[in-house]
Amino acid sequence: MNEHDQEKARAIEESRRLRQEKKAAAIQGSHQFRAIKGVRDILPPESALWNRVEQSAREVFDTFGFAEIRLPVLEPTNLFARSVGQETDIVSKEMYTFIDRPTELRTEPPFGEMPAYVQEIGRLMESGPIPRTESNLGTLKYLIDAEKDIFPIEEKLTKLDRLTEYLFQLHGFQLGDQVSLRPEATASVVRAYIQHGMQTLPGNVKLYYTGPMFRRERPQKGRYRQFYQIGAEVLGTSDAPGIDAEVIEMLMRLFERLKLKGAVLNINSIGDKNCRPAYVEKLRAELQKVREHLGEDSKRRIETNPLRVLDSKLESEQGIIEKLPRIAEHLCADCRAHYGEVKRQLGLRGIAYQENWRLVRGLDYYMRTTFEITALGLGSQNAVCGGGRYDGLVELLGGPAATKGIGFAIGTDRLVLSLQEAGEGETQGGPAGKAGGPDVYLAWFGAAAQSAAIGLARHLRDAGFVVELPAVEMKFGKSLGLADRLKARHAVIVGDDELAAGVFTVKRLSDGTQQKLAEAELFSYLRAARTA
Ligand code: HAM
Repeated sequence: MNEHDQEKARAIEESRRLRQEKKAAAIQGSHQFRAIKGVRDILPPESALWNRVEQSAREVFDTFGFAEIRLPVLEPTNLFARSVGQETDIVSKEMYTFIDRPTELRTEPPFGEMPAYVQEIGRLMESGPIPRTESNLGTLKYLIDAEKDIFPIEEKLTKLDRLTEYLFQLHGFQLGDQVSLRPEATASVVRAYIQHGMQTLPGNVKLYYTGPMFRRERPQKGRYRQFYQIGAEVLGTSDAPGIDAEVIEMLMRLFERLKLKGAVLNINSIGDKNCRPAYVEKLRAELQKVREHLGEDSKRRIETNPLRVLDSKLESEQGIIEKLPRIAEHLCADCRAHYGEVKRQLGLRGIAYQENWRLVRGLDYYMRTTFEITALGLGSQNAVCGGGRYDGLVELLGGPAATKGIGFAIGTDRLVLSLQEAGEGETQGGPAGKAGGPDVYLAWFGAAAQSAAIGLARHLRDAGFVVELPAVEMKFGKSLGLADRLKARHAVIVGDDELAAGVFTVKRLSDGTQQKLAEAELFSYLRAARTA
C-alpha cells in the first residue's frame, strides 16, 4: 500500500468508526424512556401554580357547600357508552379501553390439564369473574365439544397465560370485564350517587372532584391525551333555574379570584325530550337538503347526531349553518320558561353572558341549559370549561327517575395555560416548586456541626421555614455557591467556631451582610425577614 492508499484506508476506517459511534448513540438514545404521545409531566415551578388553582377551587367550592368526591380512574366501559353516548367521538374513538383479567384464573404451566382448565373457565363464568357473554358461552361450548381436536395445541402452549392469549385472540374470548380509563367524570359521579343511595341525603347533593381524564385525541396546544379537570355536580329532585345560575356563579367567582383574563360565558338551552326530538328531525331534514355541500363528518352526523353539525368549525360549512333552524324557536313552553329564568337569575347575580344557539356540547346526556367559558391565550382550544344540565341521566343509569342534575368541568391544563399566558402564573424556581428559594440554607462543617445543624433544621422547619440541609459535608465555597444557585434567602453557617461560641452565623445572601446570633435571636431575625 502506498501512502495515498494508507491515507484512504485510514479515512474509510475513521468514517466507519464514526458511523458506528453514531449508531450506538442512537440506540442508547432510543433506550431513554420518554412520556408517551399526548401525555406530559408537570414540573416545578409550574406545579405550584396547579396547586394554587386547585386550592382556590377547593376554597371557593367549599363556600358554596360543595364537598369532595374521589372517584376511580377505571370504570366499566358501558358506563360511558350509556351516558356520554355510543355515537359520540369520546366513546366511539377516544377511550382507552381494555379487557381486564380475573386474578382467579391460574397462570401456572398446565401440562395435561386442559380439560380441568376448561372446567375452571366454566366455573368462573358461573360465579362471575369471567363475563357470561353470548360469545364467551359459545367459545366455552366449542372448547368442551372440540376437546379432542383442540388438545394438540396444548403441546405447543406450555403456559396457561399463553393459552388464555390464544383463546382471547383466536376466539375473541373475553376473560374479564371491559373497562376504560375515564374520559370524563360526570358519569362516575352519577354512578357513585346511585351506588351509595345518596338520594336519601337532605337537600341537593353537591360534589366536586379533581383529577386526570383520558381521551385519545390529536395532541396540540391545550389538548392532551391525559388532561385534568376540576368539576362539580349538583344532584337532587329540584331543577330550579337558580341552581343553574348558582353553579355558573361559583365558576365565575373562582375565575375572578384567579384573575383569569377575558373569560366569556356562552349559554344556550337545547330543550328536553318533549321538544328536542322534533327540532332534531327538522334540522335533519334541512341538512339533507344541503348534504352535498357538507364535509364528511357533518354528512355522517346527519344520521347519527345532527345537533353536532352546529358545532362544526369547518370554514365551508359556516354559511350553511347560519341559515339552519334555531333551537330557541323550537323550545316547548316549559323549556323556554326555564331558560328565561336561568338568564334572569344570572342577571340577579350580575353575571354577563352571551347566548350562543350553536352551543350543543359533545356529550349526549345534556338537556336544557348548556354553557361554556372561553378564555384568552388558548388558540383554537379556547374552551376552559364546559357544562350543563342532565336531568335524565340518573334514571338512565338506573337511579331514581325524579333526580335532576347539573354540573361543569374546568380543563385545568387550559386554565393554567391561560393564567400563564397572562403572566398570572409567575412563580420563581426553588425546591419542590415553592415560590422563591428556601428561607435558609444550612451550611455545616464537621461532624459535631452536622449534629447541631440537624437539630436546628428541625426547629426551623417546625416553625414553618423552608430549610435546605446538605446531606454531605461540602467545602465552604462550594456550599455557599449552591446556596446562591438555589436562591436561598439566608445561609446559616455552623462550624467549630460557632459551636464553641454557642451562636450561628447568618448571612443574608442578597447583600452579603452577616452576623452571629444565638438560636432565639436567629428565629426573631428570620421571622422579621420573612415579613419584611
Ligand atoms: P367536556 O366539554 O368534554 O365536558 O370537558 C370539559 C373541559 O375539559 C373542556 O372545556 C376543556 O377545557 C377540557 N378538556 C376536554 N378535553 C380535553 C383535552 N383533550 N385536553 C385538555 N383539556 C380538555 C365534560 O367533560 C363534562 N363531564 C362536563 C360536565 C360536568 N357537564 C356536566 N357536568
